[in-house]
Amino acid sequence: MIRISNLTKSYGGRIVLNGLNLELQTGEFAYLQGRSGSGKSTLLKLLYRDLADYTGEIEIGGSLIGDIPKYHLRRKIGVIFQSFELLERKTVLENVALTGEVLGQSREHIEKQAFRLLDRVGLKGKEEMLPHQLSGGEQQRVAIARALLSRPALLLADEPTGNLDPETAVQMLALLRELHAEENMSMLVVTHSERLIERFPARTLLMEDGRIQGA
Ligand SMILES: Nc1ncnc2c1ncn2[C@@H]1O[C@H](COP(=O)(O)OP(=O)(O)O)[C@@H](O)[C@H]1O
Ligand SMILES: [Mg+2]
Repeated sequence: MIRISNLTKSYGGRIVLNGLNLELQTGEFAYLQGRSGSGKSTLLKLLYRDLADYTGEIEIGGSLIGDIPKYHLRRKIGVIFQSFELLERKTVLENVALTGEVLGQSREHIEKQAFRLLDRVGLKGKEEMLPHQLSGGEQQRVAIARALLSRPALLLADEPTGNLDPETAVQMLALLRELHAEENMSMLVVTHSERLIERFPARTLLMEDGRIQGA
């Protein structure tokens, strides 16, 4: 699924990733840990090509990332963030539908999938609400539904529970683990929470000194 070799990335001459290697299998679930500033978000941004200018190789599904048209990459990779990043003036349904619109899918298909996913993440009946009318946990569920609309092969989650209270964080991880099992995709989840990892054990990667330790 993902094969990264000798990845190096600097910002203005300061090296953040330094010869990083990583393999993530199709369908695998893994956590990414590391102290603040260790380069976790940088790695995720390189994977969904929000950042360029690196040396080394990043392969996704057997192709070098630079050879994959951005359109295909957006379809293959879903992303969620600590801050949810929903459009505040759009309804829940419109936020989720946006992914399909960007991909040029038909209105009918988009709506059907958006309703299905919102139901699946527990937001049935809230389709016409605005993000600020929802709790933090509910907003993250909208972001998950939005990320899954394109049926991605890989979901990247950058501290998805960072803005949630402990109980809601547990529910969020439970949901992600269920979706991982149901939708047959790989997931890479950045978290600081030992408690969550203990509760939902999985392969755990540690970012240190610009590399994934042990890889
Ligand atoms: N756009 C940027 N320009 C310059 N430095 C950056 C930029 N983004 C991140 N950095 C620096 O790179 C390092 C790694 O950042 P980041 O990938 O966000 O770490 P993490 O997500 O692990 O906290 C930090 O020192 C950060 O200040
Ligand atoms: Mg980060």
